[in-house]
Amino acid sequence: MHTFHLLQAMVFAPSLVTANILIYSPPSQPALTYSITIPDTTTAADSGPIYLQISAPTTLQWASLGQGTQMDSANIFILYAASPTNITLSPRSSMDGGQSEPQYNPLANLTLLPGSGINNGRMTANIRCMNCLSAWPTLSSSNSSSIYTLDPDGTSTPWFWASQSGPSVNSSDPSADLAMHDDKGTMQLDLSLAQFSSARGSLDPLYNPFSDGSIVIS
Ligand code: HEM
Ligand SMILES: *[C@@H]1O[C@H](CO)[C@@H](O)[C@H](O)[C@H]1NC(C)=O
Ligand SMILES: *[C@@H]1O[C@H](CO)[C@@H](O)[C@H](O)[C@H]1NC(C)=O
Ligand SMILES: *[C@@H]1O[C@H](CO)[C@@H](O)[C@H](O)[C@H]1NC(C)=O
Ligand SMILES: *[C@@H]1O[C@H](CO)[C@@H](O)[C@H](O)[C@H]1NC(C)=O
Repeated sequence: MHTFHLLQAMVFAPSLVTANILIYSPPSQPALTYSITIPDTTTAADSGPIYLQISAPTTLQWASLGQGTQMDSANIFILYAASPTNITLSPRSSMDGGQSEPQYNPLANLTLLPGSGINNGRMTANIRCMNCLSAWPTLSSSNSSSIYTLDPDGTSTPWFWASQSGPSVNSSDPSADLAMHDDKGTMQLDLSLAQFSSARGSLDPLYNPFSDGSIVIS
């Protein structure tokens, strides 16, 4: 029966699930994009990976994404060039209440996924973060005052960004000394639009949802 074979083909076909990828671009930096997608398993368990992409033109010296509302609150990701073809992704936390340069935090549990690097004048970091639903612990317990938590399907979650234009940093040191931003801002992201069925993703630790996702503009 044709219907039987059709049904079987549907049941056993490879998964065609794609991630819903929420993209935000600052109005003053339209070439800079921040993308996020969250497996439904993370949302259900309130624990597990989230996926982030930062993609910036090499005319920016560095570009950064922060979780929460401001510098002193939580996890900060900074992207810069390590070389003409490679990137550095530096996870940082503010250690002085957001008054100066955030410090490299080795306790962020991040993996750089395939597709990260510098191509066609763009620096891209595809990131899997295992501990981004709350503030990363810090090595200095006296400075870990943040009570930040992320609601993985919150409809109005706070984030912030900053960037600095100028020549490439050319450093693979995650503690590289960076000049202060010349542009920055805050945004609210509706993470209910950024969910995906992780039937595939949870199987492969290097799964990059940004390579085959469907796009939702914030
Ligand atoms: C690289 C060294 C950095 C220095 C020295 C620095 C310093 C400062 C200072 C002094 C302020 C308050 C004055 C103002 O509003 O201009 C500020 C604000 C801000 N910075 Fe930074 N910053 C640095 C990196 C970053 C990074 C990586 C981010 C990541 C997104 C960031 C995001 C912001 C935001 C959103 C504000 C406004 C809200 C707030 O006060 O927290 N900064 N920064
Ligand atoms: C690119 O950078 C990553 C992390 O910073 C490093 O592990 C990797 O070896 C670098 N790749 C090349 C080709 O230099
Ligand atoms: C912790 O924060 C205080 C100010 O709140 C600062 O003086 C001190 O240097 C910070 N400690 C570290 C290790 O950054
Ligand atoms: C990072 O997360 C993974 C998965 O939860 C865990 O197995 C690993 O121990 C963590 N690594 C660090 C350095 O915390
Ligand atoms: C980094 O290297 C590029 C060439 O690869 C060069 O144009 C740029 O000036 C260098 N940046 C610094 C800060 O030296």
